[in-house]
Order: sequence, then structure tokens, then C-alpha cells
Amino acid sequence: MSTAEVFDERIAARTATIGIIGLGYAGLPLATTFAEAGFSVTGIDLNVERVRAVEEGRSYLVDVPAERYGTLDGRLQAGTDYAAVRELDALTICVPTPLSKTRTPDLSYVVAAAESVAANLRPGQLVILQSTTHPGTTEEIILPILERGGGRVGVDFFLGYAPERVDPGNKQFSIRNTPKLVGGSTAECLRRTELLYRQIVDEVIPCSSPIVAEIAKLHENTFRAVNIALANELALMCDRLDISAWEVIEAAKTKPFGFLPHYPGPGLGGDCIPVVPQFLASRLREYGYTARLIDAAHEINTYMPVHVVQKVADALNDAGRPIKGSRLLLLGLAYKPDVHDTRESPSLEVMRQLLARGGEVRYCDPCVGGIDLEGVHHESTSWSPEEVEWADCVVVLTCHRAFLEHPLWDRARLIVDTRNVVPVGPSVHSI
Ligand SMILES: NC(=O)c1ccc[n+]([C@@H]2O[C@H](COP(=O)([O-])OP(=O)(O)OC[C@H]3O[C@@H](n4cnc5c(N)ncnc54)[C@H](O)[C@@H]3O)[C@@H](O)[C@H]2O)c1
Repeated sequence: MSTAEVFDERIAARTATIGIIGLGYAGLPLATTFAEAGFSVTGIDLNVERVRAVEEGRSYLVDVPAERYGTLDGRLQAGTDYAAVRELDALTICVPTPLSKTRTPDLSYVVAAAESVAANLRPGQLVILQSTTHPGTTEEIILPILERGGGRVGVDFFLGYAPERVDPGNKQFSIRNTPKLVGGSTAECLRRTELLYRQIVDEVIPCSSPIVAEIAKLHENTFRAVNIALANELALMCDRLDISAWEVIEAAKTKPFGFLPHYPGPGLGGDCIPVVPQFLASRLREYGYTARLIDAAHEINTYMPVHVVQKVADALNDAGRPIKGSRLLLLGLAYKPDVHDTRESPSLEVMRQLLARGGEVRYCDPCVGGIDLEGVHHESTSWSPEEVEWADCVVVLTCHRAFLEHPLWDRARLIVDTRNVVPVGPSVHSI
């Protein structure tokens, strides 16, 4: 039997062992899905707390509630030791790829993970990168690291790229029904990557190279960032014209072709959409190209918290109050409804600016119990009539389901609504 036949047979028989490096928002649902499909899965993470939670079947992400562990029959193990890599047939790297302070990609986690894998690589293994990343990472950074041991790609080991597309908390689209893009360093690398993902995803789409799959992922997120910026700019323009941007969008979206509605808000959040376009822009700077639309979108989206604070100042001013000393209740610190992720959340920037201007700020977020901001710890208040009545102004930033299920808008003296969820009224100001 050739090594390819052995690999195929182990996949078909579910005897292949799969590794997931990095058990976060991307890695843990993937590990769980492979284990649910019948594979024996080993998760490797340097975060001891996360490893312990997986081992004890405790949930720390919305997409992997504790019940999901219960169905796995011991097929999902977790540890911190990369020695486990030697036992694996295939592994996927899902470690973070943040931006540095200068908004250039920080690939240190990907490099560290690849080096640890390389130190334990054994012949025939398939290594896949799934982190969203700087174009060229798979073949220009990961490949040379894996080849340091003398093995050749496509012969001694196999290398692919399969971008993460999950939308945490999305009840309609899961790993199974979100089509998967894959790229491989060689034809055999691509074939094996495709085969592996076919076990857990309904539709796998091969790309001609890893860099095509890498840039496709960046383009998807850039599409969102630019369109959200367009909606935000519409809000800024409509504000000057004193009309509702949401009404304009509702009207525009009746066109049955060529228009995809996006909506304004307090800015852009999450670890993907605000960050990912910068990977593309920074790579292109190496070629002397300025990604103008990406830069413009970034400028508009990062301006939105300033605009929201100005709207709060204006609303309070109309009521005869300054921000300084006013009691402000912010609703929703997570970057989107019904998740607890506050990474890059514009709500934090709004909170920071209102605190800096002397506001007495509280927040309410049923998904975010506590938060440290500028060295000070803040705890969420309850969603109650008393808290709403306490505030001189309520600022709607992220509209969790709880706020809609138990609306308390009639208890508020003044509301600044950045999401168009509060019924129009004399005390309600839109952004
Ligand atoms: N969050 C999302 O919804 C999402 C969506 C699409 C793509 N992505 C991409 O997926 C990748 C991972 O993101 P995430 O949200 O899962 O991050 P995360 O921070 O939730 O999880 C990453 C995990 O990797 C671990 N880790 C870091 N360095 C490691 C190392 N050297 N070895 C082993 N473990 C290590 C961390 O401890 C952490 O638990 C990123 O590139 C991100 O851009 C995320």
C-alpha cells in the first residue's frame, strides 16, 4: 500500500488521529466536530486553563456548550505537550494572528506553533494552517520551518491551508454547512487536505494554491469591513441631513439585485473584520501599493466611537447637562449580540472616552460579567428598571436578545441608540 492509500484508508475508517493546535473560537469547535465525526482528536493549547476545561468537559465558548462534550465518548483529549504531535496523522493550526501596535501582522504565535510541530513532525503527516493570516504565510513561513528537518513537502510531509470562516454564535451556519476553501503546496497536499475536510464539511472547494485561499479569506472580511464603513458613512451623512440611515437602507434593499444591505453601528469589532484587511494592506505595502479603500474603511469605522460620544454629548447638552458628572449606562460591551467576545469591541472605546470626559459610567451586558479597562475593573449591572432609571442617558451599543425580550426603554430619560432598536420618541437620539 502506498502512503497515500494508507492515509485514505485511515480517514475512511475513522482511525486517523487528528490534532488541533489552539483551542479557541476557531480550534475548539473544529476539534469537537472531528471528534463528533468519529475521529480520535487531540487538542494542544498552551493555556492550561482551557486544556483543563476541555478535559473536564466545561464550556468556555458559546459554540461548544457542555452538552457537546457529553456525546464524544472520550474521543477528544487535550494537553499542553507537543510530543502528542508524533501520534497524529493530520493536524490543524488555529492559533491567534493579532495585529501589532503598528497594525502589522504578528505572526509570532503561528511561527511558534509551526516550530513546535516541526520538532515533532513524523513522515506522512498532513499539516494544515487555519489561522487567518498575512498572504504567503503557508508557503513562505510555515513551509521552510517544516522543511528544516530535511523532509520534502508533498513527499515526506504534506502542507495545506484551510481558512476559518466560522461566525461564532451563528445558529444557521456551522462548520458542516459553511463551504470550506482549501489550498495545498502540491497536488497531493491539496488532495489530502480536501479529503480530510470532506469528513466534516458538506462542500469543500479546492483553490489552486494556498495563497489564493489565504487571500480569499482576507477578501471576504475586507468586503464586510468596507461595506460596514459604507453604511457608517451613510449614517454620518444622514445625521447631517437629519434623516434616518436605516430608513434609507430599508428603501435601498427593496432592489432585488446588486445590493446587499449592511448597517451602521458604533464601529467595527471582533478579532477578524477590523484586523484582517490590514493583513492584505500590509503585504501590499511591500509592493509599494497602498490599499486605499481598506485605509478609508478603517478611518471611517474607527471614527464611529468618536461620533457616538459626540451624539451622547449633544443629547445631554439638549437636556442641559455636560458629560462630566452625568450618569451613563452603556448597553452591550461584546462586539455583537449574544456572544461574550469583547475583542476590538467599539463599545470599549466609547466607554473609555466617556470615562475620560468625566462621565459616571456603568455598563450592562448579560454576556460580559466583568471587564478591566485602563487598569480599573468594572462589573456589569443588571438589566433592571432601577438601573435604567439611574442613568441620565442610556447608550445602546450592542443589542443582546435580553434587551429586546424585556424592553425597558420607557424607563429611560434619554437614549442614544446606535443600532436602531429603540422605538422612535422625543428622548431617543439615533447616531
Ligand atoms: N474568532 C473567530 O470567529 C475567527 C473566525 C475566523 C477566523 N479566525 C482566526 O482563527 C485564528 C484563531 O483565532 P481564535 O479566535 O480561535 O483565537 P483564540 O485566542 O480564541 O484561541 C487561540 C488559542 O491558541 C492558543 N495558542 C496560542 N499560541 C499557541 C501555541 N504556540 N501552541 C498552542 N496553542 C497556542 C491560545 O492559548 C488560545 O487558546 C486566528 O487567526 C483568527 O483570526 C477566528
